[in-house]
Amino acid sequence: MTDEVTRESTETTPGMEVGELLARVDASERLLLLDVRNDEEFETWRCEGRRHVDTLHIPYFDFIEDPSACVDRVPRDRPIVAVCAQGGSSVMVVDMLREAGLSARNLVGGMVAYGQYLQPVKVPTDAAELPNAEIWQVNRRGKGCLSYVIRSGRDAIVVDASRNAAWYENFVRELEAVIVRVLDTHVHADHLSGGPALAARSRAPYFVNAEGSELRQPVERLADGQELRLGGQGREGITVRVMTTPGHTPGSTAFLVGRGYLLTGDTLFVRSVGRPDLGGHVDAWGRALFHTLHDRLASLPDDVMILPAHYAGPDEIGPDGVVAASLGTLRRIAPELQIADEDAFVASIPASLAPPPAAYAEIIRANLGLSPVEPDKATDWELGKNQCAAHASPATS
Ligand SMILES: [Fe+2]
Repeated sequence: MTDEVTRESTETTPGMEVGELLARVDASERLLLLDVRNDEEFETWRCEGRRHVDTLHIPYFDFIEDPSACVDRVPRDRPIVAVCAQGGSSVMVVDMLREAGLSARNLVGGMVAYGQYLQPVKVPTDAAELPNAEIWQVNRRGKGCLSYVIRSGRDAIVVDASRNAAWYENFVRELEAVIVRVLDTHVHADHLSGGPALAARSRAPYFVNAEGSELRQPVERLADGQELRLGGQGREGITVRVMTTPGHTPGSTAFLVGRGYLLTGDTLFVRSVGRPDLGGHVDAWGRALFHTLHDRLASLPDDVMILPAHYAGPDEIGPDGVVAASLGTLRRIAPELQIADEDAFVASIPASLAPPPAAYAEIIRANLGLSPVEPDKATDWELGKNQCAAHASPATS
């Protein structure tokens, strides 16, 4: 519709990258986000920050039909950032606003860029336990997806990579390390895994346990309890222990870094647990999840830090920017961990579920390597926040 005009205008229209927008919102800077997408797009998925984002919704076509009336509705007392689906039509709105004397910038790449933006945050770790090592939580803010880079010495492992494999390559290079292993905690249903591509580009082994599904990706097999060394065999290195944690999927696998940091995938979040229904076996997978939560994790002490693969909203991001909770805290407050009876736990699941992700079946097939993915389709499939959690009501048992 406006592609030609957009390309011409972009050169002169001031833009703002997603990272800058989120940094400003997180710092409580006063600005107004002007969302010009259509009603349905706006209702389904919006820009969120760690602080409230003051947002005004005026669809782009309203600006076309009656520009002056729409411009008059936009407050003049603060900077405006206009956002649309891909950063095109919002350029024209920004130009209109600037011509009318308002301070306005365009969100470069729109909601597509917002959904793909990756923000690395260093997880605070105990230097005595993980000497010469670090864990980075890579927060895909627009979707609520978390991936991880674990570095020890010059070795790095990437866990639950988003599909932008080049981003992880660059990030690990900046850490002056090399990717020696790529792991997925499970076959993801909400986003396309970058794991296979990243592993191939890095010539590193790739692991995912797709138990119960046909898999057409080359994978390395890892056994429950197996210990992966990172950064050397001596004291300077660290251990990552493989823990099978079936439930969210039959092959779900957690990774215990050192003794105190558990990458749980979608088994246990900081406020809920992973939904066990997406395979169509809610009873069997729900029972498996119950035993994982109550038996498999029982041997771990309360001070283990839970580092999940997803979160539901920015209020789950801690003051240090990390999404994490101690296992002891979750044992006290997570409603799903309060349900001591297996049948009651399984019975609580259906009511706790949001609608499944729109394209989850296609995403699962792609992540299993069963169907190729075209870049345009990938972008469409991944639009919107994740819907990975099951939220049980408290006092269900
Ligand atoms: Fe998942």
